[in-house]
Amino acid sequence: ELGRQLQLREVEGILLQAATVDNWSEIQNFEAKPDDLLICTYPKSGTTWIQEIVDMIEQNGDVEKCQRAIIQHRHPFIEWAQPSQTSGVEKANIMPSPRILRTHLPTQLLPPSFWENNCKFLYVARNAKDCMVSYYHFQRMNQMLPDPGTWEEYFETFINGKVAWGSWYDHVKGWWEIKDRYQILFLFYEDIKRDPKHEIQKVMQFMGKNLGETVLDKIVQETSFEKMKENPMTNRSTVPKSILDQSISPFMRKGTVGDWKNHFTVAQNERFDEIYRQKMEGTSINFCMEL
Ligand code: PPS
Repeated sequence: ELGRQLQLREVEGILLQAATVDNWSEIQNFEAKPDDLLICTYPKSGTTWIQEIVDMIEQNGDVEKCQRAIIQHRHPFIEWAQPSQTSGVEKANIMPSPRILRTHLPTQLLPPSFWENNCKFLYVARNAKDCMVSYYHFQRMNQMLPDPGTWEEYFETFINGKVAWGSWYDHVKGWWEIKDRYQILFLFYEDIKRDPKHEIQKVMQFMGKNLGETVLDKIVQETSFEKMKENPMTNRSTVPKSILDQSISPFMRKGTVGDWKNHFTVAQNERFDEIYRQKMEGTSINFCMEL
């Protein structure tokens, strides 16, 4: 258990998994290609969901093709590194183009070649409160991340950005601020939840694809929380219990907007709102907190 606390180290003030930091020069020297599409998220913001949506679009709605591998293996995770395992960079290097890759890195830590090659970026943001709740339960069950402690303790850890991949506030602001300077499609988890077809259509257009109504409707159905929770290729059920203990909390936990209301006390909520206001001051970004 104590070992879990040692698994994060800092790069430029951002906590990352120690093995990622060990592999940092390989990651920074990663060579992006102009036709790469990079899925970017802060952890617990709907990464798996948008990955499945993107893959369904890429495969023209062919469910069987999307069953070819578990979701973690379909899109190389750029900063992934574990001793004696193929790294994310190595996986990306052998992947045929056009490549679809994924990352949780904040803008300032992204390998520079992504900017140099003017790649496409698909960013998904989720409101901070639900993100924090989801991350708390994830750290409880994920043996590769520190034990979150009590909810009260985690509240402080999260607002101080002392979690893997750093501060939610800085991450979201960083990507939001550059969204008009690069080819970035900036989406919100809450919008996908409210009107999946509309958001999926945006992704389709961004990817330069044109799929008919029937296929779109099928993608909406296949990427619902209920379907993805039952799908062994998306629900992480093949990951050993020694890494992800789903008896503590399932990876596909609730998939809703507003679960923060079941966790935040009134006092915590007031404090959170005040800190949020300070940290997000001057940003035009607006989040939906309940549906
Ligand atoms: S990770 O570990 O960072 O890659 O996690 P990530 O996939 O970004 O986020 C996990 C949360 O997303 C929810 N999820 C979904 N919500 C709605 N619809 C679909 N299809 C879906 N798939 C995953 C998942 O349940 C986690 O949120 P919580 O709130 O914990 O349930």
